Amino acid sequence: MSKVTVHRKAHFNAAHRLFRKDWSDARNYEVFGKCSNPNYHGHNYELIVSLTGEINQETGFVFDLGILRDLIKTEIEDCLDHKNLNIEVEEFQNLNPTAENISVVIYNKLQKHIPNHLDLKITLYETQRNFVSYSGE
Ligand code: NI
Repeated sequence: MSKVTVHRKAHFNAAHRLFRKDWSDARNYEVFGKCSNPNYHGHNYELIVSLTGEINQETGFVFDLGILRDLIKTEIEDCLDHKNLNIEVEEFQNLNPTAENISVVIYNKLQKHIPNHLDLKITLYETQRNFVSYSGE
């Protein structure tokens, strides 16, 4: 049987601030640099959602990309797009909204809607050159 990976790209804009409440502004700046700006700043996040599995012999699909598009819209874009992640998104009330943590949150939101026989992978670009990936390990 042939295992194939299908990908869907998506996009959202969001603001964040990386910091720890228990650290001084100086310490936060030392570790998080400009991303610790107390007045927040935005990123244009590029998201790639990948599903790996065997091709369904009936349909020829690994997974219907139209269904994946709708899932990404309702589970991810509607929750994160044009939001201040620190203030408006429940998952980041006590979690630093780094690209790493955002990728895990996105994975967990999507994973419950993906059939068990498919492997989910999240790739998240915070800038054109900085990106992370997470496969649930
Ligand atoms: Ni940032």
